[in-house]
Amino acid sequence: MEELRVTGTKRNAAARSDIDPEYDDILTMLEKSDTAEVYDREHLGELKKQMEAFAAKHHVDIINVNGRRVLQEVVAEVKPHRVLELGTAIGFSSMLIAENASSDVEITTMELIEKRVLTANYFISHSPFKGRIKVIPGSAGDSLNNLSAEEKFDFVYIDAAKAQYPDYFRKVYSHLTENAVVVADNVLFRGLTEQESGVPRRMRTIAKRLREYIDMVSNNPEFSTEIRHDGDGLAISKRILK
Ligand SMILES: C[S@@+](CC[C@H](N)C(=O)[O-])C[C@H]1O[C@@H](n2cnc3c(N)ncnc32)[C@H](O)[C@@H]1O
Repeated sequence: MEELRVTGTKRNAAARSDIDPEYDDILTMLEKSDTAEVYDREHLGELKKQMEAFAAKHHVDIINVNGRRVLQEVVAEVKPHRVLELGTAIGFSSMLIAENASSDVEITTMELIEKRVLTANYFISHSPFKGRIKVIPGSAGDSLNNLSAEEKFDFVYIDAAKAQYPDYFRKVYSHLTENAVVVADNVLFRGLTEQESGVPRRMRTIAKRLREYIDMVSNNPEFSTEIRHDGDGLAISKRILK
């Protein structure tokens, strides 16, 4: 991965042209960070538009419009206080969750790619949720291993490496509150998860693991699971209070 120097960002135009355009835009944003507007709740829509434009320009995959509706609906219903998200990208879904959760919400979100972490932190620091959303850099699987046993979450949103969903669920399990809700995005994977045959070879492992994830949560008597076909498919698993 290319090295990005966040300090000493006065780079000349020639140096800039050598770098990835996404890094280039991040550097420009960071250089202007101190004077850039900080958005309150009322104007959050403007910041989200900037995020969508950034994601579209740099081909960053963020939750699609249909998936968003479901996520917002579930978060608004649950009103979580402690959220864990796997797969931050540039922080768009973190923002949606924060917007619809309890006003005291604290979100821990994990992201593998360094430049995404920088971008997410930039947008978070210019949002009303500064101090409420913490981005943990690195592989979510490793970061989950490092969570302290006392850390509990009443809402988990899984949206990182699809082939790791079963592993994520196993690792997250001991960190769930007794009434936790776990939402996993992309579980239908463009219809490939439910397809009996003809899944392209390079996607077979992902389709198989997503099937495994759906079976794992659907057959777990501690949870009531609904598979929504909106967007790329979301599995909503609500822990049933004993
Ligand atoms: C679909 S995007 C997340 C979109 C984001 N949740 C949103 O809707 O705004 C998936 C993200 O997971 C990240 N990712 C992939 N593998 C990962 C891993 N092993 N650990 C942490 N993040 C990972 C990718 O870099 C990517 O940014």
